[in-house]
Amino acid sequence: MTRLYPVPARVSEGSPSKIASMDDWRQQWLAAKDNPDGFWLDQTKARLAWTTEPSQGLSGDFHNIAEQQVAWFADGTLNVTESCLDQHLATRGDKVAILWEGDEPGTTRTLTYAQLHAEVCKAADALRAMGVQKGERVIIYMGMVPEAAIAMLACARIGAVHSVVFGGFSAEALRDRIRDCAAEVIITQDQGLRGGRTIPLKATCDEACVGERHVRRVLVYQHTGAPVAWLPERDVWWHDAVKDASADLAAVTCAAEDPLFVLYTSGSTGRPKGLVHTCAGYMTWASYTHETVFDLREDDIYACVADVGWITGHTYIVYGPLCNGATTLMFESTPLYPDAGRYWDMVERHKVSIFYTAPTAIRALAAQGDDFVTRYDRSSLRVLGTVGEPINPEAWEWYYDVVGEKGCNIVDTWWQTETGGIAITPIAPATPTKPGSATLPNPAIVPTLLDDNALPIVGPGEGRLCLAQPWPGMARTVWGDHERYVATYFSTFPGYYFTGDGCRRDADGYHFITGRVDDVLNVSGHRMGTAEFEAVLISVEAIAEAGVVGFPHPIKGQGVYAYVVLQPGADPGADLMKAANAACREQIGAHARIDVVQVVPGLPKTRSGKVMRRILRKVAEGMPEALGDVSTLADPTVVEAIVAGAVRV
Ligand code: WTA
Repeated sequence: MTRLYPVPARVSEGSPSKIASMDDWRQQWLAAKDNPDGFWLDQTKARLAWTTEPSQGLSGDFHNIAEQQVAWFADGTLNVTESCLDQHLATRGDKVAILWEGDEPGTTRTLTYAQLHAEVCKAADALRAMGVQKGERVIIYMGMVPEAAIAMLACARIGAVHSVVFGGFSAEALRDRIRDCAAEVIITQDQGLRGGRTIPLKATCDEACVGERHVRRVLVYQHTGAPVAWLPERDVWWHDAVKDASADLAAVTCAAEDPLFVLYTSGSTGRPKGLVHTCAGYMTWASYTHETVFDLREDDIYACVADVGWITGHTYIVYGPLCNGATTLMFESTPLYPDAGRYWDMVERHKVSIFYTAPTAIRALAAQGDDFVTRYDRSSLRVLGTVGEPINPEAWEWYYDVVGEKGCNIVDTWWQTETGGIAITPIAPATPTKPGSATLPNPAIVPTLLDDNALPIVGPGEGRLCLAQPWPGMARTVWGDHERYVATYFSTFPGYYFTGDGCRRDADGYHFITGRVDDVLNVSGHRMGTAEFEAVLISVEAIAEAGVVGFPHPIKGQGVYAYVVLQPGADPGADLMKAANAACREQIGAHARIDVVQVVPGLPKTRSGKVMRRILRKVAEGMPEALGDVSTLADPTVVEAIVAGAVRV
């Protein structure tokens, strides 16, 4: 039985939260379940600056989702930037909204709410002057500079739909996304900076746009000042565009269910999907979860060290904290630059009180020893969050003991791009924790574990994690392909949203996420599809067929293991791994790296030609004795060859 950690006094004392105890949590969870309309209408009216307040709560459900999208607050109108900016001007105009820490330690910039409002208005006016219309998609391909957040909010200010593409993606991956959402305008910067290295964002953007005639404008923020190629009829400098722009631009009124952004994410099959989040439900969920989970207080310095290219950056660097009037830190660098003390150096200098990172970073830092942590003063910390992948109890305990000195609560937050915000999590001032457990559901989240027969498990057990009721922050559809949305999330278990994750629930009702049960990999918290890797591999000249699976990795959580069948006569020798990874870098991005390549005579296929991935997984995990029944294979001898040639990792 895992030990229960009570909430440390530093966290529970003086909590302003409406969820400050387990009784509060129970009461709110039940209220949201029994009366979702009333509960969430109250929340949204208290949190957002509505133009026309909604009278409707939820419409739609998981049974008829093919015909009707889920909607929340459908008859209300608003512009979300008024919730993030304008509503704070009178009371928090001079409060720091964005605290930016650049790549070099101590390089900082601050923007107050008044300044951020002005910058967003100017950028919005610049976009408007370029002819960007309400509903039009704008791609944002930037690093972690305040202008990335300004660009997102500027799109929202004029009702345009942003799609942020992580700055590590390659030109090909960027081009796919530009095409999929038919974007005509891109916002980028000359270069990004990360860990002392430059990232050629404008050059990659140029490469992505070759032949893409529909891209009519590229707005370029100057960050490093490095020379860049320039197409005068297409490219515009940010500083020129905002020079004479209005610092007080009226916001365009949107419907509650108008799309706010599209964010691409990987799934089991095919190309990444553009998940659509809409204005009001997403914002309500972002604001509610950010405030309650982290127990936000007025003078907190809140630091989420994710990248705005992922959902965590959208919800917990930009939209949630700004809606709540918080001071949100944006971090341009890496946890290891210039050394493994960087986070804690930053915590000391900025007096960070809430800190949110990923298990991969925690494991990497723990491996470097405690000195890098203990040499800095961390007494300002109160809440420590983690997200993106399962956290192993050893890493959890290191975070709790060493970083938090047993005085902070750890919130292991489980959620997904699709859920829009945190779904299963401890509430910082209320929930006793267990290492490795995301604990209990937020109000509106009704987790259900389904067994092999698709039947709900009652009490303790392990199964596939599904959610039984709609919540305000859920993605409404896949851009341009509602059928794919329904097929991906609602067809495996009709009537439920299927998360793709496995989960164990203990006798206390605590949830332990066991990882993906589909063909999605989670490498260092980056979500990637095995199908994407396989498509890249078969584009390599020497490779005829490929099967990719994950294996447990001590730092990255999962590593990538590729089985390849060579083309007849091909002998790439030691260059195979190099060629494979060069192709991954080119077609996906630098974060997509294969750890192991094993050449096999054939893939284990059933007589109907389906690859038995279970076998590939077991061998990669170093458990060939647990292969199970292989009698349905077309050619059982390939298994012997695969086991004999397995690479120990
Ligand atoms: C995994 C990131 C265990 C999970 C916000 C999920 C987690 C996927 C946790 C979504 C956690 C996220 N414990 N696993 N606390 N948080 N995951 O869309 O497999 O990039 O399905 O969203 O990350 O990844 P995504």
